[in-house]
Amino acid sequence: MMTIESILEILRDVIDPDSGKNVVRRGWIRDLKVEGHTVSFTILLQDPTVPFASKVRGVCEQALKSAFPEADLRIEQDSPMIGLGNGLTIDGQSQKKGPGEGVTNIIAVASGKGGVGKSTVSSNLAVALASQGYAVGLADVDIYGPSIPTMFGLQEAKPSVNAERRIIPLEKFGVKLLSMGFLVDPEKAVIWRGPMVTSAVQQFLGDTEWGELDFLILDLPPGTGDIQLTIVQTVPLSGAVIVSTPQRVALADARKGVGMFDQVEVPVLGVVENMAYFTPPELPENKYYLFGQGGARALAEELDVHFLGEVPLIEAIRTNADDGTPIVTDPSEAASGIFDHIATDLVNQVEQRNALRPATQKIEIS
Ligand SMILES: Nc1ncnc2c1ncn2[C@@H]1O[C@H](COP(=O)(O)OP(=O)(O)OP(=O)(O)O)[C@@H](O)[C@H]1O
Ligand SMILES: [Mg+2]
Repeated sequence: MMTIESILEILRDVIDPDSGKNVVRRGWIRDLKVEGHTVSFTILLQDPTVPFASKVRGVCEQALKSAFPEADLRIEQDSPMIGLGNGLTIDGQSQKKGPGEGVTNIIAVASGKGGVGKSTVSSNLAVALASQGYAVGLADVDIYGPSIPTMFGLQEAKPSVNAERRIIPLEKFGVKLLSMGFLVDPEKAVIWRGPMVTSAVQQFLGDTEWGELDFLILDLPPGTGDIQLTIVQTVPLSGAVIVSTPQRVALADARKGVGMFDQVEVPVLGVVENMAYFTPPELPENKYYLFGQGGARALAEELDVHFLGEVPLIEAIRTNADDGTPIVTDPSEAASGIFDHIATDLVNQVEQRNALRPATQKIEIS
């Protein structure tokens, strides 16, 4: 059967020899539509001068034809560089290298309510993605309560600045890390007003030498106020992940979170239910639903957003976070596999969203 997912599955076998990555992962497939026997999409090449440019369409065609002989293929090829007046010249070279140029996907991790586990989920997903071979960055934009420095054991670390006065992110467990906490004293930031925070965040993301990244995860501050709204409006997000506990109060706020992203037309990639149940280490088969059962899953269903999975309340998740080693760094922990699974699902969601997106958008932080 021809579906969006089955078409993407075939295209994942088409590898760009330059980067070694498949064309779906490269974000080259856009505007994908399957209507009856007709499959249409645009191959969007950021750089039309790559050697593979002249072949990619034929290779995609061949792969799809042999999997689905009945398919009526309508493949176009395009490049955002030509004639878009976005500061880029016709030969595909940018006049001025925009900040964040090499970042394929920016994903915000948000919640309505505080303390539900955004930072825990962000850091574990970042490390899980890195261990799956993706190039990953994690930016903690919670200026009032940064927790990434603690969760990665980098409380004392200070990022350096290169000759072009751009910030070099720190690196741990294969993740490029930056926290507002490295740059601003949270106690002083408390008196900052909204516009100061958002311009600091933009500068912080734009002035950082992220290099080539598949994913940049943004750990947002809790809530759905002006600060969050401005951040999600000014950073070109691929999508958002909403974290909630199963508690009614948290769910009400999670609903607001989904509403906020809808308002700015950022796709919600999924909901993670954190602290879904408690499992004591000595009774790993037992599940105690302290905050109620399945609330976030039900909310996701009701709002028609994808449910990414449940993360149990486990003491080791907290102790590992406090010790600066996210739990996914220890594959013997059951929770490690859970985050790994969520990370895989998240990649699928992102790739699907990207493939459905119109071909005219371009991700650029500025
Ligand atoms: N599944 C879990 N099991 C055990 N402890 C957890 C779990 N998730 C989070 N915690 C702990 O709960 C506390 C709050 O988590 P975290 O800092 O990730 O929340 P947050 O949503 O980022 O908070 P804030 O809104 O303040 O940014 C931390 O001490 C963390 O270690
Ligand atoms: Mg946090």
